[in-house]
Amino acid sequence: MNPLKKIPVIIDCDPGIDDVMMLLLAFSSEDLDIKLITTEPGNQTQNKTIYNARAFTSYMKQDIEIARGLDEPFFRVLEVAAEVHGESGLGDVILPEPTLPESNRTAIDAMKDVLLRSEEEIVLIATGPLTNIGALFLAHPEVKKKIKYISYMGGAAIGGNMTPTSEFNVYVDPHAAEIVFRSGVPIVMSGLDVTHKAYITLDEIAEIEVTGTELAQNICSLLKFYIHNTKRTAFHEEHFERVIRLHDLCAVSYVITPELFDGDDCHVEVELEGRLTAGTTVVDYTQRTGLPQNVKVLHTVKREEFVQQFFAAIKKMDHYNKGEKRDET
Ligand code: RIB
Ligand code: CA
Repeated sequence: MNPLKKIPVIIDCDPGIDDVMMLLLAFSSEDLDIKLITTEPGNQTQNKTIYNARAFTSYMKQDIEIARGLDEPFFRVLEVAAEVHGESGLGDVILPEPTLPESNRTAIDAMKDVLLRSEEEIVLIATGPLTNIGALFLAHPEVKKKIKYISYMGGAAIGGNMTPTSEFNVYVDPHAAEIVFRSGVPIVMSGLDVTHKAYITLDEIAEIEVTGTELAQNICSLLKFYIHNTKRTAFHEEHFERVIRLHDLCAVSYVITPELFDGDDCHVEVELEGRLTAGTTVVDYTQRTGLPQNVKVLHTVKREEFVQQFFAAIKKMDHYNKGEKRDET
């Protein structure tokens, strides 16, 4: 990657515990130029996700516009994941009051303006339901030509975490997801197939904890809340009591270090009607449909390097959080 050329990105998220880990990695990267953060209803309500985004971005001393997204999915009634991310959306961690204000632009208007005014193509990083991006494409299809690709945490080729076949982000708003998947904009999908392999172990969390800093303690509290409550929701994941899957981190890690991942180009559509399968991403791994292979579906990650990247991000932001200058490496 050109060391001098930063990648312009917009981040659309629903903080959410793993969304916060994703933001930490994004803030730590010298390779990203974060133009805008927009928030989705998903892990929690829009009021809570935008508050959490403002609080964590302020806590990390970042000066980035944060714009409010829509309140509800296109047609489905919003189902939040309080049982996993807590009533606040950030487990039992209380961050300082945010200093960053909410943007006076809506997420849709802000994304439209940033994309159309950009001289170069922008990467969209999305780690929640796709309600905002689906609405953006319906209202302003002219922005599509300014998007290099969407790095998306969502969906699954095999197995779900909300129903036996559907993943949470797509399940919450399958109609918006289908609008995005059929948009023609290139997508790199970090579905459960790869995020189930992108895990951190209790021993690795202990390595973070021994640093003893406030940021490390907050990160560990969030991760422990996540693993404890994931167990209660009986997600059908083996070993889920001993590891935590850093789902959303994959969407940023791929943009920064694509070499850590491997995947296949496939046709992907979203099932909207199935009594048992609504919200399922139907991944045509063997080109049975003969339809365009619109999505790179990731299935492999170099886990150790992925975790080391996360460790380095915590270390870098820890110094930064104490007011020390980040090392430029
Ligand atoms: O299925 C995992 C996804 O759902 C992650 O984005 C997590 O934050 C939740 O939104
Ligand atoms: Ca998320």
